[in-house]
Amino acid sequence: MIFRQLFDPISSTYTYLLGDEETGKAALVDPVLPAWQRDLKVVRELGLELAYTVETHIHADHITSARRLRRETGSRVVYPGVNHPPCVDERMEEGKPLQVGGIRIEGLHTPGHTDDHFSYLVDGKVLTGDALLIDGCGRTDFQNGDADALYRSVREKLFRLPDDTLVYPGHDYQGRHVSNIAQEKQRNPRLGGERTLEEFRALMANLNLPYPKFIDFAVPGNRACGECPDGLPEDLHEYCSAMSDTLQG
Ligand SMILES: [Fe+2]
Repeated sequence: MIFRQLFDPISSTYTYLLGDEETGKAALVDPVLPAWQRDLKVVRELGLELAYTVETHIHADHITSARRLRRETGSRVVYPGVNHPPCVDERMEEGKPLQVGGIRIEGLHTPGHTDDHFSYLVDGKVLTGDALLIDGCGRTDFQNGDADALYRSVREKLFRLPDDTLVYPGHDYQGRHVSNIAQEKQRNPRLGGERTLEEFRALMANLNLPYPKFIDFAVPGNRACGECPDGLPEDLHEYCSAMSDTLQG
């Protein structure tokens, strides 16, 4: 399998490219709107054809490029869970893996950051979205977030994967790229070790995080499969305009 980890510096999001050398089919997991041209260039340079874009959840901090890439390549838009919007082509369900050529992507329902959040198991790796981050986890204070659900998703589902499963998160804000289940189980400061549900609940309730500055635009944009909403303030334009335009201008 061809595997690439791509980074969007505006929202510190990781996008994952999964490519099947045999059939040339590829999927992008959590692609980001301003980076769509870069991502497509990487796909094509590797001699691959984009068959799917797959989301881990409805994001609040960036807009997906799913719709833009579908328009460009005919790729199918895959969202997880039950509350997916009508623009979606296929729904990811637990127990029904998505086949991308010879690659099998297995969806694991890992609610808590959002209620429909999925992680994806593929080839000894788990793409954990915002459920489990390296030495951290996603916040649980909006979009039907639920600390109790996240605790169970991580400790009872992700931490039961084989210890050597590589953990590829949806974000990292400190330049870290990959971890593994053993490492997170042992030393994740929020969810690792002997952390109890009561402790985790209290910890998440007292993070006092600021209201996300892009959420009011990102959520409707992502519910439209990657539409940049009208009325975007000037200081948020970089979340929508193509990265190469930004670089040129
Ligand atoms: Fe998120």
